[in-house]
Amino acid sequence: MRIIPIILAAGKGTRMKSALPKVLHKVAGKPMISHVLSLVESICSEQAILVVGHGAEELSAFLGNSVRYVVQEPQLGTGHAVMQGMPLVDASYDGVFVVCGDTPLLTEDTLAAMKQKFIDEAAACIILTAQVDNPAGYGRILRNAAGKIQKIVEEKDATPSEKTIAEINTGTYLFRRTALEEALQTLKNENAQGEYYLTDTISYLGQKGQKVESFLSADFQETLGINDQMQLAQADAILRRRKNTSLMQSGVTITDPNNTYIDTDVTVAADTIIEPGCFLRGNTVIGGNCHIGPYCDIKNTKIGSGSCVQHSVMWDAAVGENCSVGPFAYLRPQAVLLDHVKVGDFVEIKKSEIGQGSKVPHLSYVGDATVGEKVNIGCGTITCNYDGYDKHQTVLEDDVFIGSNTNLVAPIKVGKGAFVAAGSTITDEVPADALAVARGKQVIKGGWAEEYRKKKIQK
Ligand code: UD1
Ligand code: CA
Repeated sequence: MRIIPIILAAGKGTRMKSALPKVLHKVAGKPMISHVLSLVESICSEQAILVVGHGAEELSAFLGNSVRYVVQEPQLGTGHAVMQGMPLVDASYDGVFVVCGDTPLLTEDTLAAMKQKFIDEAAACIILTAQVDNPAGYGRILRNAAGKIQKIVEEKDATPSEKTIAEINTGTYLFRRTALEEALQTLKNENAQGEYYLTDTISYLGQKGQKVESFLSADFQETLGINDQMQLAQADAILRRRKNTSLMQSGVTITDPNNTYIDTDVTVAADTIIEPGCFLRGNTVIGGNCHIGPYCDIKNTKIGSGSCVQHSVMWDAAVGENCSVGPFAYLRPQAVLLDHVKVGDFVEIKKSEIGQGSKVPHLSYVGDATVGEKVNIGCGTITCNYDGYDKHQTVLEDDVFIGSNTNLVAPIKVGKGAFVAAGSTITDEVPADALAVARGKQVIKGGWAEEYRKKKIQK
């Protein structure tokens, strides 16, 4: 059965009070529209149709060719929005999944169960509904004495007694294509908001004797629509709690889940311990038996198993197995640590590969460098990679020893096994197995300090 998703995202999102289009606001590190899209795509295996209006340019700039767009201009209601998408729905499709772009908490389980019911019951429409404590603002589900759905009444059109109904329309529907096409043609905008309501297709289909069924969400939270910043924060907390729970269920230790912030797409293998104050963002991948935290900010970074990272920041970096990073290290984009590397306190690494077993234990800047195996970079080493116009490479071959407080003026190479004396400023290539000393020669003036003190006291 072919089912195509239509995602409604043309509305303004006025209540967000933000210049950013509502569905581009992030929940658990990812724009809400991306949550919705990956969900419907996994259920339908079809490219979605996105109805855009307000913020159309920003949306298409962000989503590119991953969806097909239709522009709804002006926005005359949810029914009108779906009408705009229908020309892209050809006769090869059996069903149309209509989902709002601002409901990122829906789960795959729920949508898959809705789809199953749609198939089993051969229904014209399955509506996702929820029982809520406070139904204010939502469309209410009206049923007849036999319990069959008759229609959906919007808050603004509801009578006082209808407003007491606690079963609400979540705005998620699965329609038989032919039934939807027929029903859309009958919509009128004779209601309190002067809009073409998608919800009016329900009463039409019922009157025509078509089968309209509901699927009651097991958890109201997952149907929450996000309309303002408070709901955004609420949704964020719910998604993060879900993420932490699923990681813990798979064997990850999270010391304090309330203070651990892990984005939806992050993966962590079993037996890794995550201490409080950690932010694991984007596409970060963490292996097993790692110790992460406390207080790390890690984004789009791969960390191999058995590694330990504390109080550090890593963005777009890669860390091998059994590495030790921090406290207070900063790995910037394209910092690559191979296995068994130690990067200690107050070390910044950018666009550099550090070979297996090498150490940068303290207070160094390594940028645009290729560092071989078992290299020791002493405290206070700086790769001087920038001449004010261009960046230059530093190459340290295997087994090199760089003494403390060394400046490596790039482009520069230190050959295999060479030593660089502490305090050197290296400007010329150092051959393999050589010692390079590039510092002022020490001068001893015997008794000088004693003489100096005497002179000062006599004054
Ligand atoms: C809608 C439902 C209501 C349901 C609620 C669930 C209708 C008439 N009402 O109400 O029964 O309880 O969702 O959250 O459908 N949109 C467009 N174009 C438009 C209007 C809306 O694309 O012309 C999009 C919005 O961007 C949004 C979605 O449709 O993603 C829902 O619109 P919204 O105005 O939030 O509908 P509600 O009043 O919440
Ligand atoms: Ca809404």
